[in-house]
Amino acid sequence: MNDHTVTEQQVLDALRSVIDPDLRRDIVSLGFVKDVKICDGNVAFKIELTTPACPVKDMMKSQATQAVLQIPGVKSVNVEMTANVRSRQIGAEDLLPGVKHVIAVASGKGGVGKSTVAVNLAVALAQLGTKVGLLDADVYGPSVPLLMGTRETPHVVNEKIIPIERYGVQMMSLGFLLPDDQAVIWRGPMVAGTVRQLLTDVEWGEKDYLVVDLPPGTGDAPMTLSQSVPITGVVIVMTPQDVAFTIAGKAVAMFRKLEEGLGRQIPILGIIENMSGFACPHCGEVTPVFAGRGGEYAAERLGVPFLGSIPLDPNISLSGDEGVPAIVAHPESAQAKAFRSIAQAMAAQCSIQSMADHTLLRHIPLIRRS
Ligand SMILES: Nc1ncnc2c1ncn2[C@@H]1O[C@H](COP(=O)(O)OP(=O)(O)O)[C@@H](O)[C@H]1O
Ligand SMILES: [Mg+2]
Repeated sequence: MNDHTVTEQQVLDALRSVIDPDLRRDIVSLGFVKDVKICDGNVAFKIELTTPACPVKDMMKSQATQAVLQIPGVKSVNVEMTANVRSRQIGAEDLLPGVKHVIAVASGKGGVGKSTVAVNLAVALAQLGTKVGLLDADVYGPSVPLLMGTRETPHVVNEKIIPIERYGVQMMSLGFLLPDDQAVIWRGPMVAGTVRQLLTDVEWGEKDYLVVDLPPGTGDAPMTLSQSVPITGVVIVMTPQDVAFTIAGKAVAMFRKLEEGLGRQIPILGIIENMSGFACPHCGEVTPVFAGRGGEYAAERLGVPFLGSIPLDPNISLSGDEGVPAIVAHPESAQAKAFRSIAQAMAAQCSIQSMADHTLLRHIPLIRRS
């Protein structure tokens, strides 16, 4: 007779010590622990995270293993890490019923690298094992075809436009639909109509994340997007010299104003600082160029998460011009690492938002608000 018959209850009790740092709850009460199997002291179970792009996957796996190994009688522990992306709230009328998260990438002004960031984050999410769409809603200057290095003409099937796939990302841009040299003089209602069509007339299908590259500044595109579909949230790209938080603050203020009109929240998932510091193309070392940490400071002042910073690197513009995103062209570079870690932080913020919709977490203030 074995003195130490290990029970499922013991395993679950031990696993209550493992806390998801983003959701700030233990993995048992979050319902992440699945399929506990115990056979003669050998314990196996699954941990089902809220995204395969979880930044703390390895840490949680090792904490869970250690916790269960502490139980007397346990000989071995086998943890399988899985993921099931929890969705934003999708109503019956939703224009994108198969899209679990819509992430808008915005900026207070142009030229901060918003499109570059949107493209690289989309590819990073795909590389982390998620289903990703990329919608180029910058109708004034669609740059996704150039950055992704393709000018294919999309097919239409059953009156829906089929996205173009590149680097694991399914994308759509006005750049694919208009002839090369066609100039468009935009008026507000046209912008709204076009953005809406890019949402409704494209076969977006099932996606974990749809990244939307918005035009810079305030205007009709962000309004149409947030009116058309309940978005998970917005990330704001800024550069360190953007007079600290004034320009990022403008973008945040615009979404706060849109919230009032809509009567529902548009969460700010966080601020990304681009072109911060100089990454030496030879040794990879990053040297600060501008004084201070603009993005971090702005995030703190605005009471929103800071998702990370991307160094200034000539390789980024080179690979952009060549149509190969930096994360593909230079996967080991400092900026590729930054894109991966920001994609994970962004996915974690999406998880926080969707879990906040569940009653379980509704009463916990998850994001600091100013
Ligand atoms: N981190 C970076 N390092 C070097 N060049 C960058 C970086 N981010 C963007 N760029 C370059 O800056 C220019 C503007 O970027 P883009 O993504 O088109 O900005 P936006 O969409 O905000 O107008 C492009 O030439 C791009 O290659
Ligand atoms: Mg752009």
